[in-house]
Amino acid sequence: MRLQNLAVLAAFVSVSYAQNLTAFANALQSLGATTFGSIAANLSSTPQGQTAIQTLLSGGNFTIFAPSNDALAAVPESVTSNSSALLDVVLYHVLPGSFSSSNSSTPVLMSATFPNHTLGRTLLNSTESEGNVSQVLAWTKEGNTISFLNQPTNVSVVNSTRVEGAQIDIYLINGVLTSPPTLTTLVSNSTNTTSLGGLLNNTFITGSDGSNTTLGNYLSQGTITAFAPINAAFSAIQSSLSSLATNQSGLITVLQNHLINGTALYSTEIANNTSQTSAAGETLHFSTNSSGTFVTSGSASAKIIQTDLLTSNGVVHLIDNVLVNLESDPAAASSAFASATSAAATETRAGPIAASATGPNSGSSTTSGGGSNNAAGALIMNLHSCTFSVATVISFVLGAYMI
Ligand SMILES: *[C@@H]1O[C@H](CO)[C@@H](O)[C@H](O)[C@H]1NC(C)=O
Ligand SMILES: *[C@@H]1O[C@H](CO)[C@@H](O)[C@H](O)[C@H]1NC(C)=O
Ligand SMILES: *[C@@H]1O[C@H](CO)[C@@H](O)[C@H](O)[C@H]1NC(C)=O
Ligand SMILES: *[C@@H]1O[C@H](CO)[C@@H](O)[C@H](O)[C@H]1NC(C)=O
Ligand SMILES: *[C@@H]1O[C@H](CO)[C@@H](O)[C@H](O)[C@H]1NC(C)=O
Ligand SMILES: *[C@@H]1O[C@H](CO)[C@@H](O)[C@H](O)[C@H]1NC(C)=O
Ligand SMILES: *[C@@H]1O[C@H](CO)[C@@H](O)[C@H](O)[C@H]1NC(C)=O
Ligand SMILES: *[C@@H]1O[C@H](CO)[C@@H](O)[C@H](O)[C@H]1NC(C)=O
Ligand SMILES: *[C@@H]1O[C@H](CO)[C@@H](O)[C@H](O)[C@H]1NC(C)=O
Ligand SMILES: *[C@@H]1O[C@H](CO)[C@@H](O)[C@H](O)[C@H]1NC(C)=O
Ligand SMILES: *[C@@H]1O[C@H](CO)[C@@H](O)[C@H](O)[C@H]1NC(C)=O
Ligand SMILES: *[C@@H]1O[C@H](CO)[C@@H](O)[C@H](O)[C@H]1NC(C)=O
Repeated sequence: MRLQNLAVLAAFVSVSYAQNLTAFANALQSLGATTFGSIAANLSSTPQGQTAIQTLLSGGNFTIFAPSNDALAAVPESVTSNSSALLDVVLYHVLPGSFSSSNSSTPVLMSATFPNHTLGRTLLNSTESEGNVSQVLAWTKEGNTISFLNQPTNVSVVNSTRVEGAQIDIYLINGVLTSPPTLTTLVSNSTNTTSLGGLLNNTFITGSDGSNTTLGNYLSQGTITAFAPINAAFSAIQSSLSSLATNQSGLITVLQNHLINGTALYSTEIANNTSQTSAAGETLHFSTNSSGTFVTSGSASAKIIQTDLLTSNGVVHLIDNVLVNLESDPAAASSAFASATSAAATETRAGPIAASATGPNSGSSTTSGGGSNNAAGALIMNLHSCTFSVATVISFVLGAYMI
């Protein structure tokens, strides 16, 4: 039984730490999560793994999703033989804070009923985002089953236990959780957003390092919330798109009015009658009525039809209409980005992600009344120095749904 590795390790540490390790090992064993325990034990031979386990056992509240032995048996050798990749897998399964809605020795995972979601920040950091923000997990409850969102295969919670004497809840799950894909992969992989995928792949800009890169790659850096129009939305505004074909900066402004720069805004943070500032510096207003939640930019509105598609640097919400707003306010855009970046540095990691009264970018922002069609922000500056055929992009986008 390799789980005994943990107990052996205990012989080299303080009594208190040894006790905590043993209690942790026993809890994993009672759930049958012995492979996860063995991985944890193996990782403690690396400094990073040791730090992670020490943090976990030092007395704070933690929530662990421990994959079953069967689930872990399917993890490829390329991951299991790479301690850094393996640590990332483990870190994505550990969340600071308590997500339990009961105080018994068999904790019940806090969950919202479908279509609502519960979201938590894991110990895995995003390498693409400003300020090291954490990668997020989302789950929902349908009937009696709590399952995770955006996973390539269904993963659900099957049992739970609490580590004796510690504030650590362990939930046994029947799969290994996969951390979020890039924006381009996500959008390309969904049959409903291939038009947007084409736009991201076929628009070339000069990246901040001077390289020639796709818009999709550019938007995979830094924290981004994207309101992504589905294919049918592009088809509905064909004529507006065609007229934008000769207006590069206009097209980019429209795109930027679908983004929040520097902030990952999850569904649980989108409250009725609140606003955010778009990457173009315009107000994005949210409203909820009996038919759903809507986002408005300028005079364009769209219904949010699917929320919390997680990406490695933020989140995507699908919308049913393109927000054709050509207005921009570069000063408001940079100020929103600056406050979002400083807010990310003091992000609260423990517990469920929920709306805060004074979230980043929230509240009433100053919008430009000037109706300037000027390029907004550095993205536009980059576009000026690039070769990119809007016509090609438009024809790609339009072409995608015509097939
Ligand atoms: C759930 O876990 C407990 C230990 O915490 C164990 O006794 C029980 O048998 C498990 N239940 C199932 C259905 O595996
Ligand atoms: C832990 O390490 C041992 C020795 O290197 C190895 O045989 C075992 O497969 C590892 N366990 C897991 C779950 O990776
Ligand atoms: C062991 O766990 C207890 C309670 O969770 C905590 O107070 C203590 O600091 C831990 N000991 C060590 C060495 O981390
Ligand atoms: C752990 O979570 C419980 C329940 O949410 C809470 O009462 C307690 O204060 C938390 N402890 C710490 C150290 O945060
Ligand atoms: C959950 O979803 C339902 C139906 O969409 C909605 O009416 C309700 O307000 C949501 N609850 C929360 C807490 O967001
Ligand atoms: C993740 O980022 C936080 C905040 O910067 C940092 O404290 C923590 O050590 C990082 N975790 C890892 C595993 O790198
Ligand atoms: C993309 O789709 C393919 C096949 O449909 C699937 O195997 C893969 O896991 C998906 N990738 C992501 C990141 O969802
Ligand atoms: C995505 O497309 C499929 C069929 O292509 C459809 O059944 C589904 O409802 C769409 N989802 C959204 C959110 O539009
Ligand atoms: C975008 O490019 C990536 C590879 O760089 C590819 O996997 C994906 O399928 C492309 N998406 C579309 C919609 O063409
Ligand atoms: C959303 O807010 C508006 C304005 O305050 C209000 O009229 C409307 O009833 C609210 N919608 C819901 C679902 O509470
Ligand atoms: C986000 O803001 C930064 C700083 O102003 C800028 O460099 C970047 O281009 C912006 N990104 C987008 C998508 O607008
Ligand atoms: C960027 O790469 C694309 C595709 O390879 C190419 O069509 C375009 O001319 C390049 N732009 C610049 C500025 O090199």
